[in-house]
Amino acid sequence: MDDSAPRARGSMFAWLVGASQALGLASVVLTGVWMGHYRGGFAWDGSTLEFNVHPLCMVLGLVFLQGDAILVYRVFRNEAKRNVKLLHGIIHLLALIASIVGIVAVFDNHNVSNTPHMYSLHSWCGMATLVLFCIQWVMGLLFFLFPVASSRIRALYLPVHVFCGLALLIMSIGVSLLGITEKLLFSIASTYSKFDPEGVLANILGILLVCFGVLLGYLITKEEYRRPPNPEEESLSVHFKTLTEGRSPTTP
Ligand code: HEM
Repeated sequence: MDDSAPRARGSMFAWLVGASQALGLASVVLTGVWMGHYRGGFAWDGSTLEFNVHPLCMVLGLVFLQGDAILVYRVFRNEAKRNVKLLHGIIHLLALIASIVGIVAVFDNHNVSNTPHMYSLHSWCGMATLVLFCIQWVMGLLFFLFPVASSRIRALYLPVHVFCGLALLIMSIGVSLLGITEKLLFSIASTYSKFDPEGVLANILGILLVCFGVLLGYLITKEEYRRPPNPEEESLSVHFKTLTEGRSPTTP
């Protein structure tokens, strides 16, 4: 029997996942280079160096880690669902921690420099994204890791959770683009139009973020990369106890 088609599909998937990781990592590295090399580096003292922690943590947490937390359902689609759920939750927790550090950094910097809070479109969209991300995380925890609702309610909520996850990733990338533009206009307004190297680097960062989002959107929504249905697994109610103790969900 000719099994070359599934093999070709598998290697295409591996290439696309590899490309998404290269794009995501390059975005984080480029943000670090921008803030580290062009904006003077990092500190935790309320200064502009503390502000520099903000873009790095937001790109790392709300873009790269959030994207990868979603991608684990495609990469490990043939692994036991409870392990994948746990990994999904852990990567989201890391994303949450990074983004809280990033938000504290910018609020701290605004307090010390007497800059008003929450005046810009970027900050409004950013705060909305962060609040929704926190709600999504808590709901995911309650519905799927410590299932407090009945399996019928969970089944109803699942498509909402999936939709909101992708929407939040798109919002995070959009908010980052707004933040990048705003920062460039604050820092290099007079030289940006002259193809200042800092501006070019930040523009490339924006392009990488868009490509990361598009590639992730493709990998997440493509039907053949979805987890194959497993009726036996679906019928089991995965309780948190079984996750922590590693026992079969049917074990009393
Ligand atoms: C999803 C990612 C991001 C979120 C959720 C976010 C959120 C926020 C929020 C809520 C503020 C307001 C802080 C305050 O009022 O004290 C802010 C400020 C700021 N952010 Fe971001 N940010 C993100 C990414 C970025 C990136 C990648 C940059 C690029 C350099 C950036 C640049 C800025 C700048 C320049 C400010 C200060 C001016 C302002 O308040 O708009 N942000 N951000």
